Amino acid sequence: IVGCGGSSDNAGGDDDTPVIAFVQTGADNDWRNAHTVSVKEAAADKGYDLRFAEGQSKQENQIKAFSSFVNQGVDAIILAPIVETGWDNVLEKAKKRNIPVVILDRKVKTDDESLYVTYIGADTYTEGKKAGKWLAEKMGGQAKVVELQGNPGASPTINRFNGFREAIADQSGIEIIASQSGEFRRSKGKEVMEAFLKKYGDDIDAVYAHNDDMAIGAIQAIEDAGMKPAEDIVIVSVDGVRAAFEAMVDGKLNCTVECNPLQGPLAMEAVEKILSGQADQLDKVTLIEDSVFEMEQAADVIESRKY
Ligand code: AHR
Repeated sequence: IVGCGGSSDNAGGDDDTPVIAFVQTGADNDWRNAHTVSVKEAAADKGYDLRFAEGQSKQENQIKAFSSFVNQGVDAIILAPIVETGWDNVLEKAKKRNIPVVILDRKVKTDDESLYVTYIGADTYTEGKKAGKWLAEKMGGQAKVVELQGNPGASPTINRFNGFREAIADQSGIEIIASQSGEFRRSKGKEVMEAFLKKYGDDIDAVYAHNDDMAIGAIQAIEDAGMKPAEDIVIVSVDGVRAAFEAMVDGKLNCTVECNPLQGPLAMEAVEKILSGQADQLDKVTLIEDSVFEMEQAADVIESRKY
């Protein structure tokens, strides 16, 4: 799980190159892979020695990797936490060793905000709201919706779940008839959608997927069931990855709410400030603005997409 992106064998070795650790969630979908590349490239641009680990979607793996980086005495740690809770112990360990921590992409829940320097990520609650608003309008306020959630306990899952519900709170005709985790994965999204189709069949008017990969899995399940995705069943998802744009160009996905994974430069700028003693200039929270893309615009913008 733990790998080294740089060349030095131990942190604080012979040269002055800052050693930065990045603890990623996993490699479970297109968004995540674009996120990893963005962080690695941004570290290389700054000339940092990046040490990389990913948790294979398990918090215990991330905790082990994080602790190991603390023991190595790296100069800073960037953490993209799989789930929100359960981080206090390792964050305290880093604080005791004076190792600054940047929380990236997903949030942590802690009573002690001093355990990390700054959080940088998308406004995933607003993403859920945007998806709900778009769907309610598209369906004229009447639809039976099935929901594919992300990993349980992950901040985007919680926020996209709640944000969507806030957006449809005054829409009595929009009914969520089933909601289950597809783990942010294409294969699991397909599997859960197959089960939904078996149980609810033609009753399903719309799918709300917490990410594009699960929506693409759902598209496959809908086609396998002999139905037309985006026509027989309206689909809205979150991320805005290239595969989602391709699906929209093909007329199979109606809408994607962007969640920009190109967060590496922001993360490394924060690290640079911290290492040069300017951490006090950083905001505690930096939220990245996202757009909404509909099927009708997809062909015009697909070439300009960077991930
Ligand atoms: O935390 C961001 C979410 O995590 C993305 O929407 C998803 O694709 C990823 O796994």
